[in-house]
Amino acid sequence: MEADRVIETVSLTKNYDHHRAVNSLSFEIKEGEIFGFLGPNGAGKTTTLLMLLGLSRPSAGYSRVCGLDPLRKAREVKRLVGYLPENVGFYADLNAVESLEYVATLNGIKRAEASAKIHELLEVMGLSQDAHKKVGAFSRGMRQRLGVAEVLIKDPRVLFLDEPTIGLDPDGALRLIDLIQSLNRDKNITVLIASHNLYQVQKISHRVGIMIDGKMVAEGSVQSLAEAKFGVGEKEYSLEEVYMKYFREV
Ligand SMILES: Nc1ncnc2c1ncn2[C@@H]1O[C@H](COP(=O)(O)OP(=O)(O)OP(=O)(O)O)[C@@H](O)[C@H]1O
Ligand SMILES: [Mg+2]
Repeated sequence: MEADRVIETVSLTKNYDHHRAVNSLSFEIKEGEIFGFLGPNGAGKTTTLLMLLGLSRPSAGYSRVCGLDPLRKAREVKRLVGYLPENVGFYADLNAVESLEYVATLNGIKRAEASAKIHELLEVMGLSQDAHKKVGAFSRGMRQRLGVAEVLIKDPRVLFLDEPTIGLDPDGALRLIDLIQSLNRDKNITVLIASHNLYQVQKISHRVGIMIDGKMVAEGSVQSLAEAKFGVGEKEYSLEEVYMKYFREV
């Protein structure tokens, strides 16, 4: 495989009982890309992410993450990839600092280094005021912010973000989108972002993929997908217009 290919799936398939959640999916993401992963509820996005992380076994096909097989090299893949799941879980009895210390320890980060990073990440995520509050008493958005801090503490090369701005207030969402963009630009972090917020996805993605019923029905820049459906012209189409066009035609 090519060295600059961070994610690759080949005929990746997942069957649940009689339902095919992911149907012979083949796509790739190159190093340094932000890829917007779109599709209606139940399309198979989260299932795909779980297979890429080695957390779910494909029924057929395979994937590679940074050239590694997530089934055989799950530990290495988890070290490279920061994964923000749909539902972030915490130990309710720990406070924010303790939660981050715990994640740092799991990732083999030394205490002194972790302490500086924790301070910085709490600041970046707007949680400094809540650093010593028990996570069980966090609001939904506060938990989401802490989830992002946990993902970033291990300096991942790749980010898998499943609805990262869900529950965030408008200012928090804007800041997170800007943060993702700057991590991509300054540290060349490759990002796979699954989201229904098409405005945010359009703002940061280099390419998007639209998944429907387990298949990628379109893949490319918003501009190229718009041209494929609406032709070349003066008008600039929003990702929402482009998405709805593909969605309605399937
Ligand atoms: N553990 C499971 N057992 C059985 N079916 C499952 C399981 N997980 C997911 N599915 C099914 O697989 C399909 C794809 O689900 P998935 O969670 O991947 O969708 P999604 O694209 O992430 O949707 P959303 O936008 O709602 O997050 C759905 O039909 C879902 O019901
Ligand atoms: Mg999902």
